[in-house]
Amino acid sequence: MSISHQQLGKLADKFGTPLYLYDQNAMESKIKAYLDNFKSDLFQTGVLYASKAFSCKGMIQLVKDMGMCLDVVSGGELYVAQQVGFDMNKVYFHGNNKSKSELEFALSLDIGTVVVDNYQELVLLDKIAKDLGKKVKVLFRLNIGVDAHTHKYISTALFESKFGMMPDSQEFADCMSYFSGDANVVFDGIHCHIGSQVFEINAYKLAVDKMVAILKQWNTPLTLNIGGGFGVRYTNEDKPIDTAELCKMLIDYVHKALDEQKVSINKLLIEPGRSIVGEAGSTIYTIGFTKQIPTKSFYFVDGGMTDNIRPALYQAKYDCDVVGKQNEPKTNKVTIAGKCCESGDLIIEDVMLPPAKSGDRIVVYTTGAYGYSMSSNYNKATTPAVVFVKDGNAKLVVKRQTYQDLVANDVNDDWSQL
Ligand SMILES: Cc1ncc(COP(=O)(O)O)c(C=O)c1O
Repeated sequence: MSISHQQLGKLADKFGTPLYLYDQNAMESKIKAYLDNFKSDLFQTGVLYASKAFSCKGMIQLVKDMGMCLDVVSGGELYVAQQVGFDMNKVYFHGNNKSKSELEFALSLDIGTVVVDNYQELVLLDKIAKDLGKKVKVLFRLNIGVDAHTHKYISTALFESKFGMMPDSQEFADCMSYFSGDANVVFDGIHCHIGSQVFEINAYKLAVDKMVAILKQWNTPLTLNIGGGFGVRYTNEDKPIDTAELCKMLIDYVHKALDEQKVSINKLLIEPGRSIVGEAGSTIYTIGFTKQIPTKSFYFVDGGMTDNIRPALYQAKYDCDVVGKQNEPKTNKVTIAGKCCESGDLIIEDVMLPPAKSGDRIVVYTTGAYGYSMSSNYNKATTPAVVFVKDGNAKLVVKRQTYQDLVANDVNDDWSQL
């Protein structure tokens, strides 16, 4: 992160804490590294930003300005894209249980592609497309059984996963026969996503081999989408692959697999989320009370699982510093605990930090992905503000929620008979 500790202090003073911060320069260089290196002479390529990692108008505007494509998984994420005038041709709609109204919304916007998860969705989508007099491209999400060795909640392509169809299933065969009639859905290719926070390039290679073998059954060049999930550095234990290198390795391997299996494709897609925004984001908290018991020391901070559920949900690990004391000796073993009424509300357990006191700020690094987007109002916590920082300037992109926001949808309507 290129934001200095002095700037962190100023940002906390100006915008309050907890505060989500994004280093826009870091996001831009990451996006550029993907766009510059995920290229082939043999087929078109596309990099989709998986907006579930972090979606707000400011972020999707940046993605649009930089020329990326977009992956959305809900009517809400699609709405954000619409709000910033995203080119709908470049939007891919994912999800295992899209509702009729979400599909209608997507088709009414002339969305480019729907990534269909199952046969029922295909039939529903086709009906909606017919009713609206539209054609829509579809990719099929396939479950290819590749174990990406990540936490089981974020590993999505094991055979028991709720996502996608098995390539040799009757259900997928039924989907393929669907196109022989007068369908308004247009078959464009296949998709897989093997998991998140993946470091093993071999897992992607295995996925590519399997997907290319599946593509062999069709004679026309189609689209191959090999998903996202590229790992980022949360702590020193994580060793992410450099983005440019990763892109080149993926492209080279796809070339090799296509050559070996005598298959050609029209387009290759990837859909990184976390790796675009993860390391660019951090969260600043203020320490309130501290607590010492014989076996443990706590710093209590003014946020917690409501702004970062990942430690409680996946036992995710993070690094942090005391703002302004990053170069002081880390002599104290402490646990950074949130303020929610849950004993599992611990942001980082047993981390070495310099002595700190009430009023000091803690910066937790790499909170840019699935922090804000998974935030909640549990305990009626208000969602923190989001600020982008670029070249020494700061810009508010999401306002801090107020207590009024928390009850804005609460009504005390008159009773009406059922
Ligand atoms: C289908 C699909 N694509 C892309 C992603 C993005 O993954 P990541 O943010 O780990 O890159 C996900 C994450 O769940 C996903 O389910």
